[in-house]
Parts: sequence; structure tokens; C-alpha cells
Amino acid sequence: AAVKKYQFDVVVKNVSRLCHAKPIVTVNGMYPGPTVYAREGDRVIITVTNHAQYNMSIHWHGLKQLRNGWADGPAYITQCPIQSGNSYTYDFNITGQRGTLWWHAHILWLRATVHGAVVIMPQVGVSYPFPQPHSEAELMLGEWWNADVETIENQGNILGLPPNMSDAHTINGKPGPLFPCSDKHTYALEVEWGKTYLLRIINAALNDELFFAIAGHSMTVVEIDSVYCKPFTTEALLIAPGQTTNVLVQANQSPGRYFMATRPFMDAPVPVDNKTATAILQYKGVPTTVLPLLPKLPAPNDTTFADSYLDKLRSLNIAQFPANVPLTVDRHLFYTIGLGANPCTTCLNGTRLTASLNNITFMMPKIGLLQAHYFNTKGVFRLDFPDKPVTPFNYTGAPLTANLGTSMGTRLSKVAFNSTVELVLQDTNLLTVESHPFHLHGYNFFVVGTGIGNFDPVKDPAKYNLIDPPERNTVGVPTGGWTAIRFRADNPGVWFFHCHLELHTTWGLKMAFVVENGNGPEQSVLPPPKDLPLC
Ligand code: C2O
Repeated sequence: AAVKKYQFDVVVKNVSRLCHAKPIVTVNGMYPGPTVYAREGDRVIITVTNHAQYNMSIHWHGLKQLRNGWADGPAYITQCPIQSGNSYTYDFNITGQRGTLWWHAHILWLRATVHGAVVIMPQVGVSYPFPQPHSEAELMLGEWWNADVETIENQGNILGLPPNMSDAHTINGKPGPLFPCSDKHTYALEVEWGKTYLLRIINAALNDELFFAIAGHSMTVVEIDSVYCKPFTTEALLIAPGQTTNVLVQANQSPGRYFMATRPFMDAPVPVDNKTATAILQYKGVPTTVLPLLPKLPAPNDTTFADSYLDKLRSLNIAQFPANVPLTVDRHLFYTIGLGANPCTTCLNGTRLTASLNNITFMMPKIGLLQAHYFNTKGVFRLDFPDKPVTPFNYTGAPLTANLGTSMGTRLSKVAFNSTVELVLQDTNLLTVESHPFHLHGYNFFVVGTGIGNFDPVKDPAKYNLIDPPERNTVGVPTGGWTAIRFRADNPGVWFFHCHLELHTTWGLKMAFVVENGNGPEQSVLPPPKDLPLC
């Protein structure tokens, strides 16, 4: 195993897109930021130096950070922010993981521009469980706002209003030639006829689940969220914020130029199609004057495509990469997802939109929760997050005003070391058209079941897939439906659990688990690093 070192300088840089120039926060002046390359088993040491006038923290999305939440990154959960002028070194080992993940700022909405890919290659001498591609490329799907992203965030947060949608989607930070002033802001991937390419696709968008397709070329999905899956071929894929998808593409069509395109699935408040980002699959030697073809993307409200696509995702589950699904459950959790409104004196309408789990809107603490847990600091959080809704109701029936109000609090759930947990996430019919992509820090989990309507605790578990369910770190809970996940709580620490739609996180759709230490130092949280930022 090797040691990989990176220096991340957080700097503000002027960038122009869609005929607008504005200062954005970047890492090393790059948008998207640099890719972190490592191999399974490596130690990675990344020093983040904050030269910007913003507080900063960086999360390594999907990296398990075994016993080492100090390197996880979400502000006020596992660390205090890195203040302007200061540095913090994220020092972690990559154990038992290989594939595509990513990193992003985990404070305010700074991840809009502060994000990059993490590529973890298999150990030396270990090959992919699919044909070796000729070459590989990362495609980061994102969003661009002409306005300042802080202003947009404050619309959602302080004023309590739904904020403006982004002005364009992007592929590797570029919207592509369907937008004004964007010819030179177009990503192109050159391919040679007859060769196979591995595309590592990452959804870094703040608020949109996305479709992605390539004109004239089908894709073979081979990995999701850094876990190999049973390969299947598709014309389009669906990817939620936080998720990654690796596909193989064969450059076997008549040599030309083909658009790769991405646009939202079920965008709120209404499905619209004025944000489609494009990039170009460019066959070597074809003149760049040839007009590319556009792919057919599923319609923005095509839930039939979405359901059938998601249904095809299965863990590879071979001897070398087994799916270790917990077959028994020590702890059953049932969380409702609510969007509602609370009274607010500073808000324009006298109410503030809120989001909640089991009717609890999470309030960010003033110091890092992991620090408070490790040093046993009292008064920072409570350990009384309810295992199920206090008042059950018809979750997907007519909206109940009684369920609109929420209580605010920094309430966490305590989980015993190495216990097996099943968590059913139940959407409720309150003010929403989107699926909620939920992300658990510190773990992968198995998506053992999903369905529309109210979860039935007797009938639905009988239909669970406990053989080869998809294993991932972020899963979409369908609109008006439910999703059941299972994991073994073998990573002690404080782990954030939240919707990866940034707007919903801002509104409070988040909580955290405290996974207790096991026996002895080998099963306990490591001591904090000396340079851990304090508040
Ligand atoms: Cu990718 Cu808590 O986030």
C-alpha cells in the first residue's frame, strides 16, 4: 500500500458561464476540483488550507473512515469548520473499498462549486470483474447558478421560501453548446473506434436527480456507489445527488460526434426542460464541425423508466465480492420524511418551510458532535431520536395538517456496536414531487426493499431481496413510497444521515447516529488528530 498526498488550497476564483462572470469558491482554482487517485489499501493524506473568506470543511463521500470519523468532514457533525487562514489534514486509510466516489464541501451550499472525484483503483494485481477498458474518464454532473449561491441558499433558509432553480446543468463544470456563450464551455471526450471506455459518472448536483444518456450508444452499468453490480445494458441511467455510476461504453458506432446529455427527473416545483447539459463523445479524426446528435432522454416525469431502471440494480455478489446482507435484525427503525412549515418571525410569510424525520427538524449544534461524544461534553445533543413516529397516520393518504408542524432539536439515535439495523424510510404526501436521496456517512447499506404507498410491516418484508440487493451509500426514497435499508453497525462514531437534496438538508431533513464503541481499542473511535479544528 502507498501513501498518497494532496494539497487542497481553497481559493476564490472568477469563472464565467452562460455569459456571466462571478467569483466562486474552488479547490486549487479548479472547477470541478482535482481528482483524488488512490488504490484500495492506500493511506491518503490531504491537507486543506483555507485561503477564502468562508468557513470550509470537506467530506469524502462514501469513504467509510473506519473508526476515524475525524476525517469524515461534515461541519458541526465530525469537526468544526476550517476557518479562513487555517489548515486541517484529512488522514485516512482506504480499507475494503474500490471504485468511484467523490469529495465535496460539507458546509452551507459551498459544494455547488467545491467538489471533485475520488477514484480508487483495485489493489495491484487485482483486475476489474469486467473487461478491462481501453481508458477511463470521470463525468461530474453539476448545476450552475448565475446568482451567488449564498443568496440562493438564504432564500431557502432565512426567508423560508423555495429558492430559484439553477440556470443550467453541467458536465465537468460545463453546460455545453445548447446554452449561450457556452461553445468553449463544452466537455469533449475523445474516443477511438472499436475501443471500450469506463465512464465514472457522479451526480454532484445540489437539488436534482438526473437522467443521463449518450446518443447512439448504450451503456453497461458495472458499479454503483463504489460497489460492483450485476452488469446490465441500458439506453439511459438515473442518478440521484450523491450517487455514482460506472458504465462501460463501446465506441462502435459510425465515427462521428455524439452528445452525452443530462437533465432532471421530477424537478421541483414543476418538471421543466430548459437546463439540459450536453458534452460530446468525439470519435478521433472526425472534424469538430460535424453537428452532434442528441440522445433520447426519458421524459422528466417518466417514473416507469425510473422504476424499471432501479429494479435492475443488483449487487454482483460473487465469492470475491460477496453481498454480506444482514439476515437478522437487532434494531428496527421507521422514519417518516416530512416537508412542512413552522411559524417564523423573521420569514417573509410568517412561516418557514421545514423538513423533518419523524416530525423532528434537525438543528445544527454549535460544536462538532463527534467531539462532544468523544469527550463526553454535556448539553450538545440528546440521544432520544424516536425509533418510530410518535403518532402513526396514513402517511401517503391526504395531507394532514397535523403533520405539518415539527419540533426542532439536535436529537441523535444510539446504536450498539456491531448490531444489525433495519431502517424503513417512509415518504409522506406533504408538499413534494421529488424522491429523497438519503445518504448515510460511515457506511454502505443494502437496499433490501422499496415500494409505493405505506410500508406494510407484515407483507413487505416477505418480499425483501436478501440475496443480491444493491449496496450503496445513497438511496432514493420514492415519492409517496418507502425504502428499506439494512446495515451492520461496525463503525463506531457519530455518523450523519441526511437527504442529499441540499435544499432539504437546509430545511432540516437530517439526523445522526451515535454508534457506540465495541470492546477494546480495536473497536473504538481513534483519538482525534492534533490539528482538528475547534469551534
Ligand atoms: Cu455527500 Cu453528507 O454528504
